[in-house]
Amino acid sequence: MKVIDVQDVYLKYRASKQDTIRGISFDVREGEIFGFLGPSGAGKSTMQKILTGTLRDYRGSVRIFDTEMKYRTRDYYEHIGVDFEFPNFYGKFTALENLQYFASLYSGRTVNPLELLEKVGLHLDADKKVSSYSKGMKMRLGFIRALLHNPQLLFLDEPTSGLDPANARILKDMILEQKKLGKTIILTTHNMHDAEELCDRVAFIAAGTVKAVDSPHALRKSNADTQVEYSYLADGKEQLNVCRLSKLACAADFQSALKEGTLTSIHSKEQTLEDVFISLTGRGLQ
Ligand SMILES: Nc1ncnc2c1ncn2[C@@H]1O[C@H](COP(=O)(O)OP(=O)(O)O)[C@@H](O)[C@H]1O
Ligand SMILES: [Mg+2]
Repeated sequence: MKVIDVQDVYLKYRASKQDTIRGISFDVREGEIFGFLGPSGAGKSTMQKILTGTLRDYRGSVRIFDTEMKYRTRDYYEHIGVDFEFPNFYGKFTALENLQYFASLYSGRTVNPLELLEKVGLHLDADKKVSSYSKGMKMRLGFIRALLHNPQLLFLDEPTSGLDPANARILKDMILEQKKLGKTIILTTHNMHDAEELCDRVAFIAAGTVKAVDSPHALRKSNADTQVEYSYLADGKEQLNVCRLSKLACAADFQSALKEGTLTSIHSKEQTLEDVFISLTGRGLQ
């Protein structure tokens, strides 16, 4: 079942002359983790703001739970969780008070905030004012705020960006745990490793357009040009050579080293997700 169906969407900010989102189409199926991978300025946060109903001046069609986003009602927010790129909190209140306040805005059952704080290692800081929190602590707090009402659809804007590896690991595990619970998750990232590890499907986004959508594995295999690096002993010296996997059968030195048993190493160097991104968009992820 499609949870999100986006067809040919354009968006122009009032302050800018040109469209920032330029004809984007994709769909998201129930229970999948769908990622937007692209460099800074590509339009990831803008697209997320259209999906979460913050930007309603788009052209084209954005249907979520079978309702066009232009006509959504406030009820929508009972069903979605949003982790903003730069989360806002009440600085004079403690983390726990903030979570309790945000939980009170929902009509349904909410999760115990202390349990969530503990999961992301913030339980000992629960009674500290958020103004004293570091950026990484605010990011973890923003993430768990999105989970307070146990929503079926989650939007995560660069959830691990700027976190140390240990905390990024905790959040990634929690994202995968949400998927296991059957949640549908849309996340943005400029990190190919996160996209590869977390996402069932990834959309490559650059300059406000989507250049490809597929599983990370399929994207890496597309326009495949896998290189093989091998070494062998010849006249007592080690020789190193590189060859395309598809041409390995014609590499005379490789074939004779193979027959003579003089190969000392061989490994294939598959394209990374960023290699494919560069070949499709003409630019990198940084
Ligand atoms: N409120 C705004 N008004 C005008 N331009 C904006 C606004 N917000 C973002 N932009 C521009 O839109 C483009 C896409 O931004 P954004 O969606 O934040 O990209 P990303 O999240 O991929 O880094 C950038 O060029 C950015 O400067
Ligand atoms: Mg962004």
